[in-house]
Amino acid sequence: MKNFYLSTPIYYVNAKPHLGHAYTSILADSLCRFHQLKGEKTFLVTGSDEHGDKIVKAAEKEKLDVKTFTDNISQAFKDILPKLGVNNSAFVRTSSEKHKKCVQEFLQKVYDKGDIYFGEYGGHYCYGCERFYTEKELLADGTCPQHLVKPEYISEKNYFFKMSKYQDWLVKHIEENPDFIRPERYRNEVLSMLNSGDLEDLCISRPKSRLSWGIELPFDNNYVCYVWFDALLSYISALGGEKGQAFNEFWNNAEHLVAKDILKPHAIFWACMLKSAELPIYKHLNVHGYWLVRDTKMSKSLGNVVAPLDMIDKYGLATFRYFLLREMHFGSDASFSIEALVSRRNADLANDLGNLFSRVLAMNAKYFGSVLPQKVVDGELELELASLAKNSFQNFQTMFENLRFSNALEALWELVRALNKYIDSAAPWVLHKAQEIPRLGTVIYTLLEYMRKISLHLWAVMPETAEEMLSLLGVKFDINQVNLEAEIESFGSLQVGSHLAANCNLFPRIDVVKPDNSIGSIGSTGSTGSTGKTKANKEKKVANVQSETLKSTESYLDFSDFQKLDLRIGTILEAEQHPNADKLLCFKIDVGEESTRQIVSGIAEFFNPKDLVGKQVVVLTNLPPRKLRGVESQGMILTAAYSNNENKEVLSLLTAMEHIKSGAKIS
Ligand code: MSP
Repeated sequence: MKNFYLSTPIYYVNAKPHLGHAYTSILADSLCRFHQLKGEKTFLVTGSDEHGDKIVKAAEKEKLDVKTFTDNISQAFKDILPKLGVNNSAFVRTSSEKHKKCVQEFLQKVYDKGDIYFGEYGGHYCYGCERFYTEKELLADGTCPQHLVKPEYISEKNYFFKMSKYQDWLVKHIEENPDFIRPERYRNEVLSMLNSGDLEDLCISRPKSRLSWGIELPFDNNYVCYVWFDALLSYISALGGEKGQAFNEFWNNAEHLVAKDILKPHAIFWACMLKSAELPIYKHLNVHGYWLVRDTKMSKSLGNVVAPLDMIDKYGLATFRYFLLREMHFGSDASFSIEALVSRRNADLANDLGNLFSRVLAMNAKYFGSVLPQKVVDGELELELASLAKNSFQNFQTMFENLRFSNALEALWELVRALNKYIDSAAPWVLHKAQEIPRLGTVIYTLLEYMRKISLHLWAVMPETAEEMLSLLGVKFDINQVNLEAEIESFGSLQVGSHLAANCNLFPRIDVVKPDNSIGSIGSTGSTGSTGKTKANKEKKVANVQSETLKSTESYLDFSDFQKLDLRIGTILEAEQHPNADKLLCFKIDVGEESTRQIVSGIAEFFNPKDLVGKQVVVLTNLPPRKLRGVESQGMILTAAYSNNENKEVLSLLTAMEHIKSGAKIS
């Protein structure tokens, strides 16, 4: 049996868990579940990073002793996991005895090898990052690029890890293993860090006179270990140390999942530490981008920190997890907004997936009393569907394996949508009317069998709901019975004659969306929210969202108001100067469904009408007609105004990325 080991970063306990932490943990959980679906044994590590100045300062601020403070926040990180649907195998606390022993053994080993030495060093120390910066690494104004504050210059005697010794080896390792760091952009970033100059040795101690909250160096009790050197070892202490049985079983297949903020410690410090200790190097460092909120970095001071449990309480766990995986393209940043989440919920989950389930179960109830009918012979429609389904499952699996989660879900949705279309083409109601029962049975069986396969694939993303979907289909989920790869080709595992549910409402639509003032508080991230037993029916609570009174919404547009705009792509058929006005142009525009609009627009000083014929534009079509200098205008062309290089105000017409069908709706 193949094994799969994955770690999330162990999170600092200076603040409660937020969207960013939740995302990495959910993603890691999904990836492990995917590997389990393929029959692999998995080990998922997460935990809390508890040492260092930063934590001491945060505890002081809360007027708590460090131990009580770290106990509380570490517990919040631990407690949130089941609520996020994360099934971790280990939770490491760096303040635990087990971890301390592992760090000290590792330090001693590297020290005995001669890779740690004592020396004097002066550098710019950023307390936020807990590390020294070289002049070169600081921004032009001398501030830390992460925290934008001026580091303190500290000169002291310390212990150093001979990282420079491993520079050439690391460059070679990265070059020989193209997917060691992925996606490629981060690999390139690390190579360019390594190739831009000599790697400096790493200062791995802090004098106890300055910081006592850390792990004592085994070879000098006047010092504690640098927090990163300590934290990275959680990936091994989670397995019971280098001598542990789990280490033997899993370490050869180790992969890490982190965001881009901690690329360097993982790609450089950690790889060199492992090499020095003569341990196998992890297989992949998987690096994702950052979640922004309305394109801005989340921060306490801006009050825009997203509380994951609030989202789950309002929109349901399945919607939240689906949204995170579907919306972010692995490696790039993504923007979080309630509008985007609700739009995914309505379009993908309510309209496509939920609708498919409710339609098919209702038809099976009506035509076969909810008993699974037999499939007889495949017709042309079924053959077409079979080939599309095969591609869809194959693509889902390949993409998921390669961390292209959004594309994987997109590929699966091609089948979900194709099944909805298949219902319309096969028209079971006509078959029923004509009493073509064998054919009707084939259509219903085909739909239900693909719905079973879709549910199995979705277990990686929304485990509880996928299990509920399977149980609606009369299937009890058992991970030991699943062989996802075989599901690409096989067909027909649903048992004819079994009893299915008669109806369901998996993802009710959310009609009204209001911007949510819960984005802005992390106060509740660790404590409120759903119980550990978050059920898929939490999705149903969302209907209540509509009636909630939300504060500070004055500056926002109600989504339902936006929906009132009928915006379409139009193709300009004719364009000419207005007979009575210099500033106006008159257009004939094809806005689809054989409808041509006459539109008058005040853009004559910016465009030559001849240049516009054939161009596609965005048209607001549901404005009341009005006369402009004697010519009726039946809509409005949208433009963007800006100042050009000469500081002159100019206009640009809005259009689609490629030439598309006239009348395409913009939403
Ligand atoms: N304690 C270190 C990690 C040590 S690992 C040996 C640390 N902790 S952290 O609490 O700051 O967590 C950083 C990680 O949290 C990121 O790498 C990422 O996984 C997650 N995220 C925090 N904010 C994030 C976003 N805004 N967006 C996406 N993920 C981010 O660094």
